[in-house]
Amino acid sequence: MRAPLVIGNWKMHGTLVEARALAAGIRDGLKRPRGVQVAVCPPFTALAAVSEILAGTPIQLGAQTCHHDAAGAHTGEISPPMLAELGCRWVLVGHSERRKEIGESDELINRKLRAVLANGMTPVLCVGETSDERRQGLTFTTVEGQLRAGLAGLGADEIAKTILAYEPVWAIGTGVNATPAQAAEVQAYLRGLLSELSSKEIAQTVRILYGGSVKAENADALLAEPEVDGALVGGASLNAQGFIGIVRKAARIGTATKE
Ligand code: PGA
Repeated sequence: MRAPLVIGNWKMHGTLVEARALAAGIRDGLKRPRGVQVAVCPPFTALAAVSEILAGTPIQLGAQTCHHDAAGAHTGEISPPMLAELGCRWVLVGHSERRKEIGESDELINRKLRAVLANGMTPVLCVGETSDERRQGLTFTTVEGQLRAGLAGLGADEIAKTILAYEPVWAIGTGVNATPAQAAEVQAYLRGLLSELSSKEIAQTVRILYGGSVKAENADALLAEPEVDGALVGGASLNAQGFIGIVRKAARIGTATKE
């Protein structure tokens, strides 16, 4: 019912030369991905080049963040219409690295999310607890706060167009992924909240991805969880074969058990 989605988040990796090579490697290795939707989020500077390389393929383009205004005196920022013009279909919002390093607040993330929707793209709202929060038993409180604030003011029809990504901060880039049971537990909780904020029916259609040290070796077990509708992949998406391996696993599960 919910087709699996795998998104590669390249973060601040990839000069133009590197990004072109990675995009071409993914394109050539994934001729006809079936039963799975695939997107990559290169750095801004590589979007145009990657867009050209992926044109006419089923692999879609996304961005890692954006500003919430359409235009204006915001030095260094990139607006949603600029991304839409380049062919971006997806925009990550609220990634933990931006929350922490740039100090993005829940309120700002909410504004960005609405701007992405208003420009016809799909926001991927990232939520997740730190290791301290998990130790203190605050996992659900943290992700609930981030979810409610991130989706504040949205109508049910807008929630239906949003993707969530559960990314425990302690699992990002550490090599220590959440266990499938840990991911499923939090993601089921998030789906319950979505039900409350929209409707039970809509909550059943919203895809919730897992992110945090996903690689081809652990993708099977994570994606086999009915609550895990795909993966947001950082480090492992920088290698075409590694990324393709994850997509293939998602495709197999998508066509075999979840559709
Ligand atoms: P990782 O990053 O796969 O390198 O852990 C995931 C993310 O930050 O989206």
